[in-house]
Amino acid sequence: MTTQQSRPTKTVPKMPGGLPLIGHMIAFGKNPFDYMVSLRAKLGEIGEFRMFHQKMVLLTGPEGNEAFFRAPDAQLDQNEAYKVMTPIFGKGVVFDAPPHIKDQQLKMLMPVLRDKPMRTYSKVIVHEVEEAIKDWGDSGEVDILEFMKQLTIYTSSHCLLGDEFRYELNEEFAKLYHDLENGMHPLAFIFPNLPIPILRRRDKARVRLQELVTGIIEKRAQKTAKSDDAFQMLIDTRYEDGSPLSAHEITGLLIGTLFAGHHTTAGTAAWITLELARNPEYKEKVLQEFDDLYGRDGEVTFQSLREIPVFERVIKEVLRLHPPLIFLIRKVAQDLYFKDYIIKAGKYVCVSPRVTQRIPELFPNPEKFDPERFNEERQEDATPFSWTPFGGGRHKCSGNAFAMLQLKAIYSILLRRYNFELVNTPESYQDDYKQMVVQPGSPCLVRYTKRSISKSTESLKTTNTSATNSAATNCFKVEVDMDLCQGHANCMAEAPEIFKVDDQGKLTILQETPNNELLVKAQKAARYCPTSAIKIKQD
Ligand code: F3S
Repeated sequence: MTTQQSRPTKTVPKMPGGLPLIGHMIAFGKNPFDYMVSLRAKLGEIGEFRMFHQKMVLLTGPEGNEAFFRAPDAQLDQNEAYKVMTPIFGKGVVFDAPPHIKDQQLKMLMPVLRDKPMRTYSKVIVHEVEEAIKDWGDSGEVDILEFMKQLTIYTSSHCLLGDEFRYELNEEFAKLYHDLENGMHPLAFIFPNLPIPILRRRDKARVRLQELVTGIIEKRAQKTAKSDDAFQMLIDTRYEDGSPLSAHEITGLLIGTLFAGHHTTAGTAAWITLELARNPEYKEKVLQEFDDLYGRDGEVTFQSLREIPVFERVIKEVLRLHPPLIFLIRKVAQDLYFKDYIIKAGKYVCVSPRVTQRIPELFPNPEKFDPERFNEERQEDATPFSWTPFGGGRHKCSGNAFAMLQLKAIYSILLRRYNFELVNTPESYQDDYKQMVVQPGSPCLVRYTKRSISKSTESLKTTNTSATNSAATNCFKVEVDMDLCQGHANCMAEAPEIFKVDDQGKLTILQETPNNELLVKAQKAARYCPTSAIKIKQD
């Protein structure tokens, strides 16, 4: 990236063919992915198009991503770009709050995504999956997207919001949530308060949800025993000035938590089933891995979910081909310089994980489902900012570890119990771009058949691929990119001798060049850091 000192002045090249008033809205709205690919093919890694009156600059490729993700908030403003979320989260909540309030609100949510509570979630998820499939019988057909949407709203709400939402408000809550979800319509991005039915339902749902939240806060206040979920944490937490969150803010933050934990995971989960069904040779590898790990009835635990390398590569490949967020956007608050170009304040700038993740120079044969591209030898994601389904930089999705845990726990049960096949032709399963969060199009039918595995129950095997260097004699150094650290504290759980994270999520490195005996622990800390902030440098 060009530094600001050199002050480049080239204007960003523009896409031809914009119509008066609406600009490139029709072509973009029809298929945003194809449109962004054609923009890159015509103009290269930077190019401008127009959505109504808004000027949008698309950056693609790892360098464009890096410029976007590393820019400070004062330069690329996230809040302005996500006004679409204000009616859903509420006024004064997250993207609508001033920066110092937004930072405090996001910090209030971090404790539920830290290493310690995460250890309790696998049991809840496994229970929900078993419940969801208990009436499936020996075989049948299911719309796998609808199934995953329902399952992941149960897992997320149960883990994060607690029993009242999961059991007492079940049906009404699901309906309200659905109406809020639909409110994330592409039109609402430009006109957040357009008087159309879908946005009216969104507003009604927000009001009703706050009534429900207020009722639960009042009920909980009567109880002596305290819950230990995210909801309770938000009731108990305080701003730096000592004031509590209002019911309005709690409602908004709970919705935000669920959107992060549910919305995107359902689509990814459905795509995993579809891609494995389309690629039976890889499905066999995954099944073998699960059978070796668990046998028929081995217990799914946090520990067992940590290292499932074959399946982890499947998740990564699904997220490469089908990232749920196909473009991320910020408003340029101060001129941004990228290589020879100036992007003027007032424009919007966006990146597309989906476009960059299909660049052949980064990911050869990019249309092919090939999880082995992420193995130790190939490491096709090694170029920084090339694989970014969870975003990057300081705003990288803080729910990414929770999403991975959910996917691994769900499939540790599902794939051991059932075999899945496509009902329709493989090519008929495609991404649907009508919503801002992209998922496979409906109907999304698959056929399931009960598996009969002959293996007897095996004890859990502990895979420990990184524990090979304990006898190494080389020195090593620990480095943390503090721009990326979000205070998850997995590092402290793995290597407390090296990392310390306080209650506010502030990380201190206790030893930068630890004793070699700590190398394996340090490597695990790096491996399990959800934001990949830790680098271990060996001589
Ligand atoms: Fe930070 Fe990663 Fe540790 S986010 S606190 S370096 S686990």
